[in-house]
Amino acid sequence: MEYLVKSGSPEKQRVGCVVVGVFDRRKLTQQARALDFAADGLLSSILRRGDLDGKLGDTAVLHNVEELLCDRVLLVGCGKEREFNDRAYEKACAAAIKQLSALGGVDAAFYLTEQNVRGRDDFAWQVKSALLTVEENLYRFDTCRGQGFESPRQKLTRLVFQVPRRSDLRAAERGVNEGRATAAGLKRAKDLGNLPANICTPSYLADNAKELAGAHDKLKTSVLGEDEMAELGMGALLGVSRGSRQPARLIVMEYNGGAKKDKPIVLVGKGVTFDSGGISIKPSAAMDEMKYDMGGAASVFGAVEAAAEMNLPQNVVGVVPAVENLPDGDAYRPGDILTSMSGQTIEILNTDAEGRLALADALTYVERHYDPDAVIDMATLTGAALVALGSQAAALYGNNSPLRRALRDAGDTVGDRAWPMPVWDEYQEQLDSNFADMANVGGHLAGSVTAACFLNRFARKLRWAHLDIAGVAWKSGSEKGATGRPVGLLTQYLIDRTHDDA
Ligand code: BES
Ligand code: MN
Ligand code: ZN
Repeated sequence: MEYLVKSGSPEKQRVGCVVVGVFDRRKLTQQARALDFAADGLLSSILRRGDLDGKLGDTAVLHNVEELLCDRVLLVGCGKEREFNDRAYEKACAAAIKQLSALGGVDAAFYLTEQNVRGRDDFAWQVKSALLTVEENLYRFDTCRGQGFESPRQKLTRLVFQVPRRSDLRAAERGVNEGRATAAGLKRAKDLGNLPANICTPSYLADNAKELAGAHDKLKTSVLGEDEMAELGMGALLGVSRGSRQPARLIVMEYNGGAKKDKPIVLVGKGVTFDSGGISIKPSAAMDEMKYDMGGAASVFGAVEAAAEMNLPQNVVGVVPAVENLPDGDAYRPGDILTSMSGQTIEILNTDAEGRLALADALTYVERHYDPDAVIDMATLTGAALVALGSQAAALYGNNSPLRRALRDAGDTVGDRAWPMPVWDEYQEQLDSNFADMANVGGHLAGSVTAACFLNRFARKLRWAHLDIAGVAWKSGSEKGATGRPVGLLTQYLIDRTHDDA
């Protein structure tokens, strides 16, 4: 899709479709009023006949309105004007794009971006948010369909986001740039997530990182194999890998957009390409969804790509421990004691608590090889996070409150929310082991918290935050598919950080 920004009145647009909003009840927005005036009251009379009340998400299409230069007018219900907030705006935009892609035109002038959204005072936000909603609704994953499959052709290829004044164009342009970059990152994250585990293996992820680096001058990728990891003493990560014939990989992506001396933000993502549970094997219902257990890794790829696409003036490092968790004659077992790269020993009480093991060594690797400004890890870590927060918010942990605050704010801005959870010392006792420095599970209470507390033990020297994204990384049921979350949050965090420095 080609995205443009323009200012100008709706009645003068020579396009396939002009999209304007109508509030509940039958209240024309300023842009709809302009069309109504030019068309001698046609819009008002149509509303009076009852074709559209303005209920949020309802739409009506008018064809061949004589006095207008466009082929069609799409009226979009925006709900109550006083309640036009982030959510309402997104719903209106989603309704608009669904209709638009069902209509015939190749281009459209999109006026919902001119609407004031409660609490938002910057057209960059409206434009970016609309663009991301469009991309979200147009995304399809068809790479694994057979030969006979024909993907439906998207007729709409040009979307013009309208803003009221010429002086708003700069902000709108920024919204398009940030939106495009974020959308590219989200697409990569979704594609990687949706690929099945027989294709998306640790080596596949490593190749994908190399391909990504090939497309951006300021991006470099290096990959460690199992021998190199063994030399570094990564006994926890390699313990998980023993049951799989797919060799583990430690993928490191370095985006150097800042000065050499600038401390990097390091993003670490759990890259378990399939999680069967190992010897502590999972029940088979919905086990296919454990191909999404590399969602954290996918979001690191996406955020790094977005940073590179925006040419952000800062340094970002992505680190992905990529590994598969399967049962096998050579697999690690309950009772085994692993020595992590940090030197701390871990008694395995459940081989299904594998993500924290891979992440522990990745965090130690980061501590030894970088001097980060902050480290943020993302992981589909616990079913308990899903129980606690459902699929609305990621569980947010960390040992630094400004960092937690910044992540939460970034998530709020892009509607990719995270909610704070504790890593109090009191919880650490749940990880006590009779035989090693710690156990890898903390009992059935506060499962997401004790997993975070486990990671905390490997991040003591770091400004660190952890997002348990088990509830948000993918959708189940008839809409099964990767969401790409938290690429939006991470990208926004990096953008906000650039502005704060300036
Ligand atoms: N990848 C899973 C977490 C998960 C499960 C995410 C279901 C989304 C849906 C993780 O590796 C895991 O198996 N965690 C265990 C931990 C337990 C053994 C302490 C869990 O949540 O049950
Ligand atoms: Mn598991
Ligand atoms: Zn897992």
